[in-house]
Amino acid sequence: MGNRTATMRAVRLHAFGGPDVLVHEEVPRPSPAPGEVLVRVHAAGINPPDLYARTGFTRIPAELRPAWTPPLVLGSDVSGVVAELGEGVTDWQPGDEVFGLIRFPGQGSGYAEYVTAPADHLAAKPASLDHTEAAAVPMAGLTAYQFLIGGRAPLPGGTALVNGAAGGVGHFAVQLARIAGAERVIGVASGRHEAFLRGLGVDRFVDYTRTPAAEAVPDAADLLVDTVGGPDAHRLLPAVRRGGLVLPVYLGDYHRERAAGLGVTIPERMQQVRSSGADLTELAALLDSGRVRVHLDGVHPLAEAAAAHRRAELGHLQGKLVLRVHP
Ligand SMILES: NC(=O)c1ccc[n+]([C@@H]2O[C@H](COP(=O)([O-])OP(=O)(O)OC[C@H]3O[C@@H](n4cnc5c(N)ncnc54)[C@H](OP(=O)(O)O)[C@@H]3O)[C@@H](O)[C@H]2O)c1
Repeated sequence: MGNRTATMRAVRLHAFGGPDVLVHEEVPRPSPAPGEVLVRVHAAGINPPDLYARTGFTRIPAELRPAWTPPLVLGSDVSGVVAELGEGVTDWQPGDEVFGLIRFPGQGSGYAEYVTAPADHLAAKPASLDHTEAAAVPMAGLTAYQFLIGGRAPLPGGTALVNGAAGGVGHFAVQLARIAGAERVIGVASGRHEAFLRGLGVDRFVDYTRTPAAEAVPDAADLLVDTVGGPDAHRLLPAVRRGGLVLPVYLGDYHRERAAGLGVTIPERMQQVRSSGADLTELAALLDSGRVRVHLDGVHPLAEAAAAHRRAELGHLQGKLVLRVHP
């Protein structure tokens, strides 16, 4: 079926480096292998791992660094339309509107007009979202979903504290914590996000640029979802109650011995989000019901992926950045 000589527009890097290594150019169009689907991409989400990959994973400890070799097309999150089916695929039909976190952990290639995806990494696009909104959901939404729903989070009746609450993962986590049964949700972010987070149902807002969370809400949380991590991660420990749980979303120094002394549990290994069409189908239902909302910080044309990465590097995102691929 696939034409071997067909090409497409994509954003590719030929060497690791700053945003300007992202080049909008003509590349070969992929063909779906057995069990895969070719998706015509309408929009592609941008996630922190895309930035780590672009710079050659220098932020990731050497022993965890994937061995990816340029030229590379980045991008794990897409929303689009099924264009072609690989052998043996029966769940999808050409024309179906789908979205997904593709091949994660691993290498997606979503900053492109077409991408192949294992059929079970996709879900039907929520009817109530357009493609740019849907492309903003998969990685951040699935992270919050897989960490909070059906996981080990001891939430019913308890208090959830989300650090980095306005970001991609954080803004889904504050909403999904409530759905997981939290009676009270505390969001920690910089001040300009207060109205946004209160609109998402946060009961208590802490502006970390004014007051450290540990001082503002001591002993408050049964569960801390920490999307920030880093060398100062341990400073949040006093905000967690004895018997509470910390779920790190990014690598951080949590001073584990001190945490044990405070009676706070931190899993030995950080959980990692995984591609799952099944989980994404559940999340799509929550989006269509209006119980969960997605927020876009900004939308950039595919050809301006470098500008979008520059925006991402400035940090302080409110929701998600998305590339518009097909107008
Ligand atoms: N374990 C996994 O499977 C997994 C999955 C997805 C993502 N991640 C990781 O999780 C992290 C977050 O991802 P994301 O997509 O949510 O990133 P993001 O969209 O860039 O959001 C990060 C948020 O953190 C806030 N922030 C920055 N410094 C802060 C501080 N000191 N205290 C509190 N908030 C602070 C930022 O805004 P303000 O400073 O303005 O509040 C921003 O809203 C990334 O490191 C990513 O690699 C891990």
